[in-house]
Amino acid sequence: MEITIQNLCKDYEGPNGAIRVLDSINLQASDGDSIAVMGPSGSGKSTLLHILGVLDAPTSGEVHYDGQSPFALRERERALFRNKRVGFVFQDHHLLPQFSVLENTVIPALANRRISKSLRNRANELLEQVGLAHRIDHRPGELSGGERQRVAIARALINSPDVLLCDEPTGNLDMETATQVSDVLFDLHRNEQTILMMVTHSTELASRCASLYQLRVGKLDLAREATA
Ligand SMILES: Nc1ncnc2c1ncn2[C@@H]1O[C@H](COP(=O)(O)OP(=O)(O)O)[C@@H](O)[C@H]1O
Ligand SMILES: [Mg+2]
Repeated sequence: MEITIQNLCKDYEGPNGAIRVLDSINLQASDGDSIAVMGPSGSGKSTLLHILGVLDAPTSGEVHYDGQSPFALRERERALFRNKRVGFVFQDHHLLPQFSVLENTVIPALANRRISKSLRNRANELLEQVGLAHRIDHRPGELSGGERQRVAIARALINSPDVLLCDEPTGNLDMETATQVSDVLFDLHRNEQTILMMVTHSTELASRCASLYQLRVGKLDLAREATA
């Protein structure tokens, strides 16, 4: 599995005309890669993640998943593509309060099916890996912040996506909890061998990724190359 980004540009309309947020970004990533993206607030980190995850479209340039452009798909197919191939973890857990841990975890897989035996097994396996096997019947309101974020990680991986995109995944957590959550994240990344791309303000978290990029005024620069 390989993702390539070529000459990606993103403009937003501002009061005085278009503002270029991403300027000719190039990036390539394959299975097992872990990439951190750092940069000041407003530098376009979330925009880049959203485009990579097919939540937002580029103004120009190309995004390919194994040679296929998700933006060439019609809306419904594009939504299915995103659902199957992309996992998201946001700064906030975005769990649905009325559903249990198990139900929240399987939600991305419910588009076409009921909770089958195999889906339940997959969810249990992931929840065990994030250390929450004993909490599957709890509601998010009964969990700590770190536990909620661990459910969000399990949910992001339920469909075995090609890419796991994390936008400041530990941004709302204290340092000790952030370390626990990032341990879980990197363990799962190692087991699942997805492409991991993470936006973070934490140098500690970024240092655990094989490579590091810096976004500055729309340009993406390689700051530390993967050595493995
Ligand atoms: N939907 C939008 N419409 C207009 N401007 C936007 C939109 N989303 C983001 N921006 C602008 O694009 C820039 C980059 O935003 P963002 O990607 O969220 O930055 P970061 O995640 O690095 O803080 C900011 O100046 C922001 O105001
Ligand atoms: Mg952001």
